[in-house]
Amino acid sequence: DGDILIAPSILSSDFSRLGEEIAAVDRAGADWIHLDVMDGRFVPNITFGPPVVAAVRGASARFFDAHLMIASPDAYLEGFAKAGCDGITVHAEACTHLDRTLQAIRALDCRAGVAINPATPETAIEYVLDRVDLVLVMTVNPGFGGQSFIPATLEKVRRLRAMIGARPIRLQVDGGVAPETIGAIRQAGADTFVAGSAVYRGGTEDNYRNNIDALRRS
Ligand code: DX5
Ligand code: ZN
Repeated sequence: DGDILIAPSILSSDFSRLGEEIAAVDRAGADWIHLDVMDGRFVPNITFGPPVVAAVRGASARFFDAHLMIASPDAYLEGFAKAGCDGITVHAEACTHLDRTLQAIRALDCRAGVAINPATPETAIEYVLDRVDLVLVMTVNPGFGGQSFIPATLEKVRRLRAMIGARPIRLQVDGGVAPETIGAIRQAGADTFVAGSAVYRGGTEDNYRNNIDALRRS
């Protein structure tokens, strides 16, 4: 299905060789590059910010899909846009004025995304659907790679598929996406799949190619 996008999360890559690891999944068939930004406040982990994104921007021409797991992201949107992000996704739970934040992302000429945690109902984003290009359903609690897919999120994906209707919005899932889980998630209506450990396992470009192929086949 040509409509399906695979977005490897570099969180599971070798950070000492980040540029090469991005180029490797690009050559191995990645559609998007998923960048997990964590601030140690919204989630219990810290990763990287705009300077690192800018440093690796040249490693791939693919869509840079930034997933901001940070509290009050407004002050950092311009920095991520200037660093070369094509899409910026913020968490509904992290934004006091979500509608305004999503408008600000589009004003920076980036695709706007909104993410919700496993415990957040889909109705939290019902009134901003005309402001977004992407909805991200977290299928684990954000903060770490390699966690198990939470089955209760499937019903949320189904409901969001219906809520989105004919709008041109990508429905993305993130967390525990693997050959064993991706079929059911696709059935529920997702079209954009983030996968960290399931892509980067094996540590070589040949493994990444096989891992991406396995996700597409499943
Ligand atoms: C979790 C991140 C995910 C993570 C997914 O906080 O948002 O993108 O890297 O990793 P896997 O695919 O290993 O669950
Ligand atoms: Zn993510």
